Amino acid sequence: MNTVLLIFLIILSIPLFLIIWIFVIAKIARRIYPFPIPHFMTEIIDNPVRRKYIQKPDQIAQRMGTAPGAIVLEVGPGKGSYTKAVAKRIEPEGIVYAIDIQQPILDKLQVRIDEEGIKNIIPKLDDAYNLDIEDNSVDIIFAIACLPEIPKPIKVLKEFKRVLKPGGTISLCELFIDPDYPLRRTEKKWAEEAGLILKEEYGNWFSYQLNFGKK
Ligand SMILES: C[S@@+](CC[C@H](N)C(=O)[O-])C[C@H]1O[C@@H](n2cnc3c(N)ncnc32)[C@H](O)[C@@H]1O
Repeated sequence: MNTVLLIFLIILSIPLFLIIWIFVIAKIARRIYPFPIPHFMTEIIDNPVRRKYIQKPDQIAQRMGTAPGAIVLEVGPGKGSYTKAVAKRIEPEGIVYAIDIQQPILDKLQVRIDEEGIKNIIPKLDDAYNLDIEDNSVDIIFAIACLPEIPKPIKVLKEFKRVLKPGGTISLCELFIDPDYPLRRTEKKWAEEAGLILKEEYGNWFSYQLNFGKK
């Protein structure tokens, strides 16, 4: 009986070990050779479980202090669920500029915008290292599961600081299952080195949101 139970437990644990191994290998591979997430993966990571229980789009949008009329910049919008939640809260005059370095991601977002008749999201090809945006011109900048994927996050945060209006907010959200997940203290350190101050923090070790402003 005990042997049967043992075999049963071993069989049950195989998928778990496999998932852990894939996660560890992905983490190591991304350290050695950083690359942007393949665009088809954005479909997988933006799933109903995540949206309903872990990173709820409307809660994230509310926590970054969205208000009607805001000018918002999102870096790495993926499928656009968070973009859409923010766009809704800043209607009618507010605009979300959703930038990414991968055109296929923006193309997919444009299809969603057209299908759902969203008026205030503008997808744009741009690079977070060197944004085609004027100094002090944006109220809110947000990046969800995106900043740690970019090899020089401090350089990106300095660029965010340049385009952020005084009094504006930079909101960063991270999720443990992301192979690039940084500890909360690591992201705070990056922000401090970029000359930002922490304004609010939410969540737990598994999923957190940090709001920063200019010093
Ligand atoms: C993991 S996806 C995030 C998707 C979405 N925010 C979500 O949480 O579902 C990260 C995105 O950042 C984009 N990205 C990576 N490096 C970038 C850069 N230097 N400038 C702009 N976007 C970049 C990638 O192309 C990718 O679409």
